[in-house]
Amino acid sequence: MIDLFSTKGFKSYIKQAQKNLDQNWTGRYTKPAPSLYPHQWNWDSGFIAIGYAHYNEARAMQEIRSLFDNQWPNGMIPQISFNPKSLGNYFPEPDFWQVPGNKLTSGITMPPLHAIACLHIYRHAGDKKRALEFLKELFPKLLASHKYFYLHRDPKKTGLVYIRHPWESGLDNSPNWDKPLRNIEIDKSKLPSYKRKDLKHGIPAEQRPSNADYDRYVYLVDLFRRLDYNEEKIFAQCPFLIQDVLFNSILCRANRDLVEIGRIIGQDVEEVREWVEQTSQAISKLMWSSKRRQFDPIDLVTGQHLATATASSFMPLFAVAATTDQAELLYERLNSVSFCALHQGNCFTIPNYDMTREEFDPKNYWRGPVWININWMLYHGLKSYGYKEKSDAMRKDLIQLPVRFGFHEYFDSVNGKGYGSSGFSWTCALFIDLVFEYYDQDKHSLYWPRRGESRRLKKPLILNQAPEFTPVTSNGLAGRLMAAIEDLKETFYDINRGRVDYRAMKNSSEYHQYKKLAAGLQHFDLVSLITKEEKLAFWINLYNTLVVHAIMELNLSASVREVSNFFTQVRYQIGEHTFSMDEIEHGILRSNARPPYRIFSVFKKTDPRREFALNRLDARIHFALVCGSRSCAPIRSYTSDNIDEQLETATQNFINSSEVVVIPEQNKILLSEIFNWYSGDFGKGRDVLEFVLSYLKSYDLSQYLNDHLNTIEVEYLFYDWNLNH
Ligand code: GLC
Repeated sequence: MIDLFSTKGFKSYIKQAQKNLDQNWTGRYTKPAPSLYPHQWNWDSGFIAIGYAHYNEARAMQEIRSLFDNQWPNGMIPQISFNPKSLGNYFPEPDFWQVPGNKLTSGITMPPLHAIACLHIYRHAGDKKRALEFLKELFPKLLASHKYFYLHRDPKKTGLVYIRHPWESGLDNSPNWDKPLRNIEIDKSKLPSYKRKDLKHGIPAEQRPSNADYDRYVYLVDLFRRLDYNEEKIFAQCPFLIQDVLFNSILCRANRDLVEIGRIIGQDVEEVREWVEQTSQAISKLMWSSKRRQFDPIDLVTGQHLATATASSFMPLFAVAATTDQAELLYERLNSVSFCALHQGNCFTIPNYDMTREEFDPKNYWRGPVWININWMLYHGLKSYGYKEKSDAMRKDLIQLPVRFGFHEYFDSVNGKGYGSSGFSWTCALFIDLVFEYYDQDKHSLYWPRRGESRRLKKPLILNQAPEFTPVTSNGLAGRLMAAIEDLKETFYDINRGRVDYRAMKNSSEYHQYKKLAAGLQHFDLVSLITKEEKLAFWINLYNTLVVHAIMELNLSASVREVSNFFTQVRYQIGEHTFSMDEIEHGILRSNARPPYRIFSVFKKTDPRREFALNRLDARIHFALVCGSRSCAPIRSYTSDNIDEQLETATQNFINSSEVVVIPEQNKILLSEIFNWYSGDFGKGRDVLEFVLSYLKSYDLSQYLNDHLNTIEVEYLFYDWNLNH
């Protein structure tokens, strides 16, 4: 491993996303889009603040503050806060809403994402003191906004809150509302006259809600103002009252985060804890349809489940309200043709509606396209339940969407094309969040030791010299070591965080056993390794175990880079020789090839250890060596019987992960730094692209790469050195 850090890759896209957000920033809040949505929208600001949290904390906090400045006396956070300077371009505006106190807001609310955003801001803050003050300031307001729901939107105390307008759901024309809207009889002559303004921005009408929908939207607003926004009267008379899955899931997750906020600032959160309990139980029990094996919204007017099929039914994963059995069924459904299994080729993450339904429309707003915010929540939900492979794949696709098709409002679920507004704020913000999370590039949490901060080992550190050892004669020793490390990792693997708890591992009896096994290496005869397969499996396993062992012994907490000569000084004694990680990697496995950016090979001509080196370099080892950092391959154990197949799989997995991104639209390919550092191992010049091509699974992308091997522009991605713990 070598000392090089590169900030290429997604950097230019991050800049573009930030530029878009700058353009939408008004000085007080961020417009969801440059022209279509000129005011401040409730849940948009939550998503937007999540993006800002990574690079502009002050703005992230201001975004939320500005929204809460318009909190109603009853605690409600309005769906829209109007900007007096931008009136006249949107419908309906304050003159139509006529809310109490003549506030410049609409008279409905939206999914309460703000506690989630506030905790996120705090977690990523560089200035923790300021962030703590911010949490203290926001806590009572957040609490009041949640209390509003339990007081006014759950009169029967079911644990589920209702929405009373499709706009409250955030998914205006979702197929979920077709039936309840159809049930609303409209007397056109009594409907106030109005003019739609959403069709004036160049977005084709077929991608927007229909006129019939709009009549009903307006009818409901008119009803609310006639009832003076009195919640009791509205509950008694409103023909649209739905306990929505997405809404309640967000509330439930937000309650969880509010509990955490309360803990951080030392406030009593017993009541919030009860809400978490009530709502998660109610989601899991009342919304679950065992017939359809999914979560359904409940129509309070008819008292029935709405048998729809939108991505919202997966959201109890985000709430962590689904039981593991329910989660498993959702997972199956996510992987079915209905929601575009990732192996289908033409799949750009989860569309908002079941693709097999007749009314599915890949272009129409909330009736089929892919939305980044929905997928972002689903990604977190899947991650919380430990579906790591799926969530990683989703994140890759999510990052790719704006990179390939632009920062649009929504994307065609069949061909990825972007629709609606361009430069859409939450697409930009969540893209930033996903990329920063992936690379942990956040300036506050990225571990990049400054000069003088990293330790140097003054002399070689041999990790396996304990006098107590387990004698092993067979050449399966490295495999056993690997298996022991794997067991350890399994035991100390934290499913929710997808990381290993190295500290707990170190104090365990399993670790003690492992050390005895490693000590046995001192008596191991390397000459007993004969075939290429035996050597490959032995040394790869050994490298990988040595890394984990070293992380624990050196008490590393953030990165292997905390010890600047980690790869050259930490060693295992094997027979009469010692081997560092660099010697194993470059000397043995890379057949004593020169390490990148160094002048000499690791074994000099007379070094007796050369006799153990492999005769030929197999470039696939790069996808099997685990260097204790996020950007390396996942750890697994290798056996001489299956090594070829295992290396194939490791290579295939790596090449089809976020470490390789083909962007036909820009005739560009983004590659992991590994392909840069070791380009010689893959052949000459552009041979590396042929190598990538031979493993690429997507038919379209490999076809494209094949046709453009000589002209495609290559860029390299960040390398994430943070510990994969
Ligand atoms: C539309 C969307 C809603 C969003 C708003 C502003 O109304 O349906 O979710 O908050 O636009 O972007």
